Amino acid sequence: MLIALLGGDGIGPEVVAEARRVLDALNIDGLHYEEALVGGAAYKASGHPLPPETLDLAKRADAILFGAVGDPDCDALERHLRPEQAILGLRKELNLFANLRPAKLFPELADASALRPEVATQIDMVIVRELNGDVYFGEKGVRTTADGKREGYDIMSYNEDEVRRIARVGFETAMARGKKLCSVDKANVLETSQLWRDVVIEVSADYPEVALSHMYVDNAAMQLVRNPGQFDVMVTGNLFGDILSDQASMCAGSIGMLPSASLDAHQKGLYEPIHGSAPDIAGQGKANPLATILSAAMMLRYSLNLSGEADAIEAAVAKALAGGARSPDLGGTHSARDMGDAVLRKLN
Ligand code: IPM
Ligand code: MG
Repeated sequence: MLIALLGGDGIGPEVVAEARRVLDALNIDGLHYEEALVGGAAYKASGHPLPPETLDLAKRADAILFGAVGDPDCDALERHLRPEQAILGLRKELNLFANLRPAKLFPELADASALRPEVATQIDMVIVRELNGDVYFGEKGVRTTADGKREGYDIMSYNEDEVRRIARVGFETAMARGKKLCSVDKANVLETSQLWRDVVIEVSADYPEVALSHMYVDNAAMQLVRNPGQFDVMVTGNLFGDILSDQASMCAGSIGMLPSASLDAHQKGLYEPIHGSAPDIAGQGKANPLATILSAAMMLRYSLNLSGEADAIEAAVAKALAGGARSPDLGGTHSARDMGDAVLRKLN
C-alpha cells in the first residue's frame, strides 16, 4: 500500500510529520510512503502548485495524507498558479467528490468550545460536502461591463448526476449512523438549490429508513450554534459545506481538531485536516497536529480497511486529551511535537 505524503505549506509539513510518527508506531505491514511538494512550496521549487510528479504520485497512491496549502507570498499570482489550486486540482483530477467532515466534541474539550458546554457537548455530526462542483469549478473571471466597470463572476451550477451521487453518500452515511439527514441549500433564492432539493427528494425514495429534512443555509448556520445536537448527517454543496464545516469546528472546540476524508467512488481518498496552512504560526511548533492524526485514522478506516488501527488512534487522541495535552489553540502550551508524543504514549 502506497501512501502519498503531501505536507504542503505553512504548518502542513509539521502536522503531517506528527501523523507519520503515529502511523509508524502502528507497524502496519506493507505500508510505504512517498513524499512530494504541493502548493506554494511546489510553486517556489518548480513554478506550479501541482507539478506533474505530484499529481502522478497522488494517482499512483492508494491514499493521500495531505497537510495544507496556502502561502501569502503567492497572493498576487494569477489564480491558476495559487497554492489553493493544488488541492482543488487534486480533488477534481482524482474525482474526490465526497468530503466527509465529522464534527464531534471530545468531552475533555468542552471548555474549549465557543459554545456553552451543555450545548457544545451535544455536537456529534458528519458534514457531507460535495467537492467537485458548484461555484468552485464554474466558469469564472473578471469582465468589463458596457459602461466600462470591472465585474467579477463565478457561475454556480450542479447537474442532477452530481447531486444524486453526493446525496447517496449522505444517505449511506446516515444509514450507518443515526438515520437522520439534513440537506442544506438556498432553494428560496437559487435555482441550483431548487434542483438540488428536488434530486435529494428523489434519491430519498431509496432510503425510506432515513428521516430527511431540508434547511436553508442561513438557518443552518444559526441552528449549528443554537442547537448542534439536532444534526446527525448534513449534506450540502461545495461552498456551503466549506463555510459550515469551519463553523462546526469551533462548536467542536477548535479548528485544529477536525479531520476530513475526500473520497472517490471507490474509497480511494485524500485525507486532510480542515484547517488551512496557518502561515502566522508556521515553523513555531504551535500547530495542533490532532486533526491530521485523526485524518490518518480516517485514512486507515476508509481507504485501507484497517478499522482496528483507526480506533486505536482515535482512542489514543482521546486519552492524550484526557491526560491534559493542550496545544495553544486548545488553551495550552504543548508544541506539535509534544502533542504527537502525548498521542504516541497512549497508543497501545
Ligand atoms: C477547505 C479549504 C479549501 C476549500 C481551500 C484551501 C481551497 O478551505 O478544504 O475547506 O475552500 O475547499
Ligand atoms: Mg475551508
